[in-house]
Amino acid sequence: MTVIAIDGPAAAGKGTLSRLIADAYGFHHLDTGLTYRAVAKAMIDAGLPFDNEAVAVRIARSIELAGLDRTVLSAHEIGEAASKIAVMPKLRKALVEAQRAFSRRNPGTVLDGRDIGTVVCPDAAAKLYVTASPEVRASRRYEEIVHNGGDTDFETVLADIRKRDARDMDRADSPLKPADNAYLIDTSEMSIEAAFQAAKTHIDAVL
Ligand code: C5P
Repeated sequence: MTVIAIDGPAAAGKGTLSRLIADAYGFHHLDTGLTYRAVAKAMIDAGLPFDNEAVAVRIARSIELAGLDRTVLSAHEIGEAASKIAVMPKLRKALVEAQRAFSRRNPGTVLDGRDIGTVVCPDAAAKLYVTASPEVRASRRYEEIVHNGGDTDFETVLADIRKRDARDMDRADSPLKPADNAYLIDTSEMSIEAAFQAAKTHIDAVL
């Protein structure tokens, strides 16, 4: 049971990097952001308020990890709702249990999120913290939205990124921060290929 934990803020390149690493090592991959997004979508669809913790926990326990698909969970409003419900401790506990079960079920896993190295898998064999400046992350997110035919402006995207960072970093339960022994990768001025090589060199040294 070998776990590679990858944490960091939104739009730092964590998702792409996690997939590349999972492919390179032949590991299973769980994007834990999707677990929060799936609960958020179910709550939006049912018209539930985002502070209904009892129902959120019930939905969390019914989620099928294998069926999670970013394409149906990528909407901006789902991401916003996910970061709002993610402050509820009992919901986090239910999702963390499912995420740990995933890591135990498979011989090798890459888990990416906000609290993998600190809370979900503190004993992970390798821990990475992937970040980039808010401006760089906002400009990547902006390009992606425009590329997909969306209509927005850079300042709005930057304000969203800052709001999301504040919610993730300032919450009382499992705030986003690098684990003590995490290897830091700042992708602000790095290609994804260079980030992958840096990650692989670190992982090979510690596995
Ligand atoms: O990674 P993604 O942006 O899809 O995650 C959506 C939201 O879910 C994040 O903004 C964060 O608030 C929450 N999340 C979390 N812990 C994780 C993964 C995601 O709190 N391990």
